[in-house]
Amino acid sequence: MALRHFLGHPWRTGTLLASLSLAACAGNGVGLDANGQPVGTGGGGPPPPLSADFSSIQANIFTPICSVCHIGGGAPEGLRLDAADSYNLLVGVPSTEVPSLDRVKPGDPDNSYIIQKLEGHAAVGAQMPFGCPTTQPCLTATTIAFIRQWISNGAPPPAVATVHAAPLTVTSIVPDAVEPVNESPPQIMVAFNHELDVWQIDSRSMHIEKIVPGESTASTLVSEVVPARVSVSNANLRALMVWPSHQLASGHYRLVINAGAPTQVSDLAGNSLALAVPSESGESVISTFDVEVHP
Ligand code: HEC
Repeated sequence: MALRHFLGHPWRTGTLLASLSLAACAGNGVGLDANGQPVGTGGGGPPPPLSADFSSIQANIFTPICSVCHIGGGAPEGLRLDAADSYNLLVGVPSTEVPSLDRVKPGDPDNSYIIQKLEGHAAVGAQMPFGCPTTQPCLTATTIAFIRQWISNGAPPPAVATVHAAPLTVTSIVPDAVEPVNESPPQIMVAFNHELDVWQIDSRSMHIEKIVPGESTASTLVSEVVPARVSVSNANLRALMVWPSHQLASGHYRLVINAGAPTQVSDLAGNSLALAVPSESGESVISTFDVEVHP
């Protein structure tokens, strides 16, 4: 499994070869200095110093070190660690490898899967960053301590200048229609700019359809209906997660609101947003995406 991921990405071959020739000179890992401490990515001056704050962890660790692999349609285990998606895919989200453990469980670093992966004692797979300490340094205990501290502090979201008066909008959908994913997505994430009023959300209000696109929306053929469960974690009210009941094979898919289910969500301030406008055929399609599983 790990090997397939590793070989599945052409650039990694280059990284591997480069690292082999530098093997005697530990410290040339991406984004880390000789002591395994994060360094700036160059050009734009040093990043803000590493602290137990999400934005700082993103800028110093997730973006330069992790999102080399954990990005886009090829992100391993569906975990994207780029700045746009990392928080919503980490906090309160069950890990794909050990679903009984959340990737980040606020207040509980020991039971946060990301910490187990970084410290190298997770039940499944390799220590992160993948390939450490051979192809790149592992994070030091000092660096990991900042992530532990952020989790102990309750894993607060990045401090952004929230405009509370701004209308409720969808900020991100993973996976999206732009880039196919190369493994069955463990979950579909719909992220919002405000916290949702979860009382309105019904766990059986959506499903996924595998489709054979036709010339018009009306002629689209549904070849399979995949039941799905909808949830919003108490740990992060800004991300609505949709869990397919089984793995999705390669194909075109769309996320659909069940007939008769509410097509609107509201935030805690009472602002509503239409997630989908019912089409002529009565379908309320939220989004589409493609799965292209590479053998
Ligand atoms: C060289 C590519 C690569 C890099 C860099 C990398 N990872 Fe990974 N990551 C993987 C692969 C491949 C897997 C799946 C196989 C495994 O777990 O060994 C994975 C799995 C994971 C998982 C398990 C996700 C789940 O839901 O089960 C976590 C958590 C994780 N990585 C965190 C990180 C963090 C944090 C960093 C940065 C410090 C990082 N990774 C850097 C390739 C990478």
